[in-house]
Amino acid sequence: MESVTISELKNWKKNKIKFAAITAYDFSFAKLFSNQGIPVILTGDSLGMTIQGHSSTLSVKIKDIEYHTKAVRKGAPNTFLLSDLPFMSYYNTKQALKSTAKIIRSGANMIKIEGGKWLVEIIKELSDRSILVCGHIGLTPQSFNYLSGYKVQGRDASDAKKLIDDALLLEESGIQMLVVECIPEKLAKQITENLSIPVIGIGSGKYTDGQILVMHDLLGITEGKKPSFTKNFLSESGSVQKAIQKYIYEVKKGIFPNKKYSF
Ligand code: KIV
Repeated sequence: MESVTISELKNWKKNKIKFAAITAYDFSFAKLFSNQGIPVILTGDSLGMTIQGHSSTLSVKIKDIEYHTKAVRKGAPNTFLLSDLPFMSYYNTKQALKSTAKIIRSGANMIKIEGGKWLVEIIKELSDRSILVCGHIGLTPQSFNYLSGYKVQGRDASDAKKLIDDALLLEESGIQMLVVECIPEKLAKQITENLSIPVIGIGSGKYTDGQILVMHDLLGITEGKKPSFTKNFLSESGSVQKAIQKYIYEVKKGIFPNKKYSF
């Protein structure tokens, strides 16, 4: 596989070619996902929950993301790899630059940060230094205390408007990609249509340019209460490889997520 680049992802948006992304945290799964044709991997701070067993992402440190990014990059040398800057690793511009350097040196193509307006200066500084930045709005897990839990965002008109304004402002500031998490399908459609950069949805309906799932949800490994927007692709597939192929196929054809997995 040729290396996937940001210009390719932008071309896919322009040509309405949908793409599937997934989280990965280690060499073996990254290699398998990449071999099955996954073009975009996120080494997310969800590793705080899926790998470290915490109840939130807040305890994840920059050294954790560095460690897992390096492992994923070894397994998926040509995949477009984005990695999260964890909680409090980008509280000001200086800190964001320091944290970003560590993650990019570990092999990520792009860093992802959660939030709206307050990130404008940070995004400008990073973009001016040729760093690819992905925004993340809607349900931002690093703010779950402030949001009073893991809830769908942007349901009422003023919250929806704020999210649209944030998306436009972040794009203007320099982000090259945006993740929208747990927002109503209609709102995600509006944001996707209004932005020229690729928008990746999770729990946000089928109209975004790409979809992302946490690998443990997609493979049915998550025990206990699962987010309602996730689908266990392994249960219908017989092997991890086939589950990934099915996921890619359903995203490309607009089959996943259907109404059952959307708000
Ligand atoms: O950390 C993560 O896995 C994420 C996804 C849920 C988008 O941010």
